[in-house]
Amino acid sequence: MSNQDSLREVADGRAFDLGTAVDAAALRDDVSYRDTVRTEFNALTPENALKMGPLRPSLNTYDFTDADALVNFARANDMTVRGHTLVWHNQTPEWFQPWDYTDDQLRRFLREHVQTVVGRYRRSVGTWDVVNEAVADDGTMRETVWYDAMGEQYLDRAFEWANEVNPDADLYYNDYGADAVNEKSDAVYDLVERLLDRGVPLDGVGLQLHALGEWPDPDSVAENVRRFQALGLDVQVTEMDVAFPAGEEPDDALERQAEFYGDVLDACLDTGVDTLVTWGVDDARSWIRSFRDFSERYTGDPLLFDERNRPKPAYRAVREALST
Ligand code: G3I
Repeated sequence: MSNQDSLREVADGRAFDLGTAVDAAALRDDVSYRDTVRTEFNALTPENALKMGPLRPSLNTYDFTDADALVNFARANDMTVRGHTLVWHNQTPEWFQPWDYTDDQLRRFLREHVQTVVGRYRRSVGTWDVVNEAVADDGTMRETVWYDAMGEQYLDRAFEWANEVNPDADLYYNDYGADAVNEKSDAVYDLVERLLDRGVPLDGVGLQLHALGEWPDPDSVAENVRRFQALGLDVQVTEMDVAFPAGEEPDDALERQAEFYGDVLDACLDTGVDTLVTWGVDDARSWIRSFRDFSERYTGDPLLFDERNRPKPAYRAVREALST
């Protein structure tokens, strides 16, 4: 590795997928953002464009404009795409009021949605977060519109429907707070074990790794990864960012953040994880700055590039971890 190598070159050199969540408007409007995405990353996750809300302006229509733009950009730049996400309780369309529909209508609606979206991107999206965040913070199944209509079987069906349309895709269950060994990851473990016992075509588990305030112990992350792998599943880090509680950041915050990124990546590499995605490119566009009261709760500089798109110590730590 030379000092001139980009992150992407270093990642390519060891067949590691280093991804980032990409915002369609920024990609369209900001040349410097576009250049950073294609130069520094070899994998892309649409941050919002593939979610049900953005995709479905009305019951019977789809708007694939942003999703197509992201997927075409990835293809033109030889990047892989993680499709995020088919089934979630958040970011459903504004017009969608579950009580307007019977359980059977909801089931048919979901099936049509999953199969249309997976089918459209059959040749360009090789990995899907089929179901996102089905487990509540207390470890019970989250009572979402899909759970209420179909029970836990909504996961089984969603994976089966996706698999019918694209048997070659890698199908993931994705969640937050389940990064290390803890009560939530125990519940996720139990869930995916039940899915596997029922023969559901599940290929992997996505650990989001939003390290907000409390950061998981990298050794425990590795232990957690290994237990999922022992079930025969792949594991990816799908949405990493690293923040301090607002007002509590130490003087060496950027160095500590960098060290944590490096330690998590080392743990990934030790366990054979081959994909890590950061949830955004530069700090200025981090979701933490605009989501609910998160900007009051956490520091708004969780990513590898600063507000002016300059690489941070965390960038160098990731580069270093990938080069050893
Ligand atoms: O695009 C609309 C715009 O048209 C509208 O006028 C405006 C008014 O609120 O909203 C815009 O949509 C926002 C969208 O981000 C795009 O900026 C939504 O309000 C906002 O809720 C949405 O937030 C996203 C959030 O998921 C929704 O839950 C974040 O960008 C996105 O980073 C975040 O990502 C999630 C993952 O999907 C799942 N894991 C957790 C992660 C962080 O919350």
